[in-house]
Amino acid sequence: MSRIFFVILAVVVFVGAVIGGRNFFLYDRNKVTTVGTVNIGGPFNLIDQTGKAVTEKDFAGKYMLIYFGYTFCPDVCPTSLSIMGEAIHMLHQKQQDKVVPIFITIDPERDTPEVMAAYVPNFYEKMVGLTGSMQNIKAAAKAFKVFYAKANEDDPDGNYTMDHGSTTYLMGPHGRYVTHFTHGTPATAIAAKLAEYL
Ligand code: NI
Repeated sequence: MSRIFFVILAVVVFVGAVIGGRNFFLYDRNKVTTVGTVNIGGPFNLIDQTGKAVTEKDFAGKYMLIYFGYTFCPDVCPTSLSIMGEAIHMLHQKQQDKVVPIFITIDPERDTPEVMAAYVPNFYEKMVGLTGSMQNIKAAAKAFKVFYAKANEDDPDGNYTMDHGSTTYLMGPHGRYVTHFTHGTPATAIAAKLAEYL
């Protein structure tokens, strides 16, 4: 190896460290979120499927399993929510009582409380469906670092879709982040993890 190679390498590392800071050295940022203090979640101000205004305080003392999506979703959301319901059903009743599965729409234009009311019980009888103003949904998604965006807006029938993150978050009884499950995690694995906490 020539000296020039090491000089270039040193410069690249230095510039990377300056620009990227800590993250330059942490190639797997998802892994990092499972250790230490994680800034995921926060207050929300939404409307449930019965039309009632709710905030995170309404779930104080309970674990929350939170998933963001939309009822018009052809595949990913129904799969994730089915797995969520399945996982909770695998727990004992006493454990089930300690956790609230919550589906938060990122498509409040179509997902009114009525639409949510017809949708969420398909996956778990006590699943909560939350919608709200565009602004409050945006704030909630931001707090959970959930990306979403309208897609196929030029669909001739107006049947747009939404691109969105597909992570399920487990929040603790004080509303703080506990862990998360990536899309495709089997129900048995989720149930086993939940059982460690509940
Ligand atoms: Ni979806």
